[in-house]
Amino acid sequence: MTHSAVDVIAAKRDRHRLTDAQIDWVVAAYTRGEVADEQMAALAMAILLNGMDDAETARWTLAMIESGERLALPDVGRPLVDKHSTGGVGDKLTLPLAPLVAACGAAVPQLSGRGLGHTGGTLDKLEAIPGWRAELSADEIAAQLAEVGAVVCATTPSLAPADRKLYALRDVTGTVASIPLIASSIMSKKIAEGTGGLVLDVKVGSGAFLRTHDAAEELARRMVAIGAAHGLSTRALLTDMSVPLGRTVGNALEVAEAVEVLRGSGPPDVVELTLALARAMLGLAGIEADPAEVLASGRAFEVWERMIAAQGGDPAAPLPAATHVEIVEAPASGILTRLDALAVGTAAWRLGAGRARKEHPVQAAAGVRLLAGVGDEVRAGDPLLELHTDTPGAVPGARAALDAGLAIADEPVGRGPLLLGEVGA
Ligand code: URA
Repeated sequence: MTHSAVDVIAAKRDRHRLTDAQIDWVVAAYTRGEVADEQMAALAMAILLNGMDDAETARWTLAMIESGERLALPDVGRPLVDKHSTGGVGDKLTLPLAPLVAACGAAVPQLSGRGLGHTGGTLDKLEAIPGWRAELSADEIAAQLAEVGAVVCATTPSLAPADRKLYALRDVTGTVASIPLIASSIMSKKIAEGTGGLVLDVKVGSGAFLRTHDAAEELARRMVAIGAAHGLSTRALLTDMSVPLGRTVGNALEVAEAVEVLRGSGPPDVVELTLALARAMLGLAGIEADPAEVLASGRAFEVWERMIAAQGGDPAAPLPAATHVEIVEAPASGILTRLDALAVGTAAWRLGAGRARKEHPVQAAAGVRLLAGVGDEVRAGDPLLELHTDTPGAVPGARAALDAGLAIADEPVGRGPLLLGEVGA
């Protein structure tokens, strides 16, 4: 049967279900360049407005997987398990988590992306390490998984090419925020990667893609359903992203904090979530190990060193330091009641830690160090934050982003719970 892009767009515009044949055709034809960008943009907007049900979303995911090749990971003699985060401010959890789960006996194939906007990207963080290389061939990924047990690298070009093209289009057409499109985008890459189990860290709050618990739960439910439809055991944790994770935001600053965690210290929230995600991953992999004990033993740190060295990085090399550091002082005495994740993420981004367009470079050393946390008592003039940058002209913009993000008051508050819910296995 022949299809026309206009008919597919009109069907979704008029709130009909897309048939399997329509989905298969439109995704394949778009990847080949036979459906034009403006037609796919119209369809993405119709999907954003009128939705897709679970069956349509599972089929859309399959069509995106079939637009490229699945990564044929070899049997490395251990269960494969991966995690994906929907992205947040100060979210460096992959860095300690991948070597920790590998040190517990699983193999972690973590194909990652770069950051866009105020949320950082794992590859940008690791690229702060002198010599570290993100691009690996499929053979190098397989070899490193077998030898080290963990690999964090860029997705290969043949993995879900339809998603790469469609995500770039959604980014410039106001159509990123569609739950079925986000769910199918994330899951197509993870299913094509060939992991055996998947833990999703779905962030909720001001610094996350999705601000409300209900929207995050819906995304989690959709992704778990797609995993089930494709035979991939998937579990989602809903976690708080209303304040930044840990005490650092920015690439080299976050690597240093991840290393602290791997050496057995580090901020309690980063340690708590790393262990919660590790337990979920090990549960899916059927491994009975205590990640807290493995972390304390130093075995995860050893895997980290081998994982970085395998990709050309020098784990012992000093990390880049910013040429300019400025302090933000507490404007009043009292309790720090607000340290908003979006405000801190935007400040770090403006200092040079993030990019506005995907072709822009990032500054390895730029970012924000938090010197106080929510619930801490501060006195007027105390240092609250350090702003790190190589471009001092960026500081006023960063300070402006922080203005509405900090509050000091008299009432005592604590940081709310980190784990907000769970969906799936
Ligand atoms: N991350 C993805 O990989 N895809 C989306 O659509 C949104 C976030």
